[in-house]
Amino acid sequence: MEQHKKGQWGNQFGFLMAAVGSAVGLGNLWGFPYKMGKNGGFAFLFIYILLVVFVGIIITITELSIGRKTGKGVVGAYRDLGKKYAPIGWFGVISPFLIMSFYTMLGGYTLKYMVANLGDIFGASWGYQGSGMATGDYFQSFYSDQLQTCIYTAVFVVLTAAVVRGGVSQGIEKFSKVAMPALFFMLLAVIVRSVTLPGAGEGLRFVFEPNFEVFKGSGWVNVFAAAGGQAFFSLSLGMGIMVTYGSYLKKDEDLKVNSIVIPVADTIIAVLAGVAIMPAVFAAGLEPTAGPGLLFVTLQTVFASMGAGGPIFGFLMYFLVFIAAITSSISLLETVVSVVVDLKLERSETKSFDKKKITFWCAAAVLAEAIFVSLDGLGSHGFPQILGQSTWLDSMDLVSEGVLMPLSALFTAIICGWIMPRFVPDEVERNGKFTWEKFYMFCIKFVVPPVMVLVLVGQIDTFFSLGIFS
Ligand code: PFF
Repeated sequence: MEQHKKGQWGNQFGFLMAAVGSAVGLGNLWGFPYKMGKNGGFAFLFIYILLVVFVGIIITITELSIGRKTGKGVVGAYRDLGKKYAPIGWFGVISPFLIMSFYTMLGGYTLKYMVANLGDIFGASWGYQGSGMATGDYFQSFYSDQLQTCIYTAVFVVLTAAVVRGGVSQGIEKFSKVAMPALFFMLLAVIVRSVTLPGAGEGLRFVFEPNFEVFKGSGWVNVFAAAGGQAFFSLSLGMGIMVTYGSYLKKDEDLKVNSIVIPVADTIIAVLAGVAIMPAVFAAGLEPTAGPGLLFVTLQTVFASMGAGGPIFGFLMYFLVFIAAITSSISLLETVVSVVVDLKLERSETKSFDKKKITFWCAAAVLAEAIFVSLDGLGSHGFPQILGQSTWLDSMDLVSEGVLMPLSALFTAIICGWIMPRFVPDEVERNGKFTWEKFYMFCIKFVVPPVMVLVLVGQIDTFFSLGIFS
């Protein structure tokens, strides 16, 4: 169907569910609990919360304002700020495009594990237990199987595209309004099971016990850089997502409230993820890790050791992870689609576009890159290294999360703090007084830029194991 308008959120709850859905993703579930435990427990949480308040909320309201004011996708939005800023808009569409290459692959992994646990519920031979393998071997045999991983990745891409092609309110909003509350309740169910396992206390201690040792010497720089990088990825900032989602906001929507609710909800879910995951890991006597190992080996080991109820909790958990991943993936694809829609609108004389067709082609491009990343998988096929990273997943992540994302946020802060300081306050004041304008101006000018430089250096340090701060 040809469309003339880009779409709008039906109501505030719908917008919030979509935006929180974007923020809550794999980053919360497999990154946060471990990083918190490793970097000082409550001490890390304290730093993280400071960053969310002084940087996360500030960039969120900035990006939402840019989106709503211009009503465009990220490239058009930055071009509206000033012709010379268009490249920053391009950063904001290249990042989500590259992130999708591996995010959809990992989304495919969650599908595989949903299927495996479902099989176990029915005692089927295609379940995990039917394979007769140890969890580590099972995971390795899966991610080394290029055909299988490509198929699951493709299914995940198709599911993402199916929601995006439904449109902003009829697709993304409708889906998120059901999926996000479901995720929340599933998380609570998993928490109840997890903390009542014998030996769970050790896991809670791992996540929460304050440890100020990590701040010793130059250690605090590491903690700051880790918390900053995590906060940015987790809040979906510096990638045009909030610009895009902001562009579908009604003019009477209060940006101040929304820009606080999204980061706060994301942080609460991240902490709850720690309560859901780590007690189970420790109860099963396993070592905590981060990344795919935690989600697909350690957790599966936990479910396998739970006896009869294990597969049910396993299914529930992987379903939860799947929802977290797909709502994030949807926001990534929508950001790309929205830019292409703008380009189409600029060129077309009838001022119309076919969102379904555009979604199809964007999803096809994503699938193409995701297939390459899936073929390399977790790096067991001897593919050539790109940018010195051991997997193509890491190479894509380096360019997007490591470099473009902090740069985009840094430039955005410079533009909105120093060059056009009235831009955000004017947009926010459409809905009443900007009660914390002074705080906003202080942060966007003096706090966000140095933090973004620190995050950038911290990311490069991590990706290339340079040991700059050690
Ligand atoms: N925020 C998501 C997570 O924590 O997993 C990932 C993500 C989604 C990052 C969308 C960036 C983005 F634009």
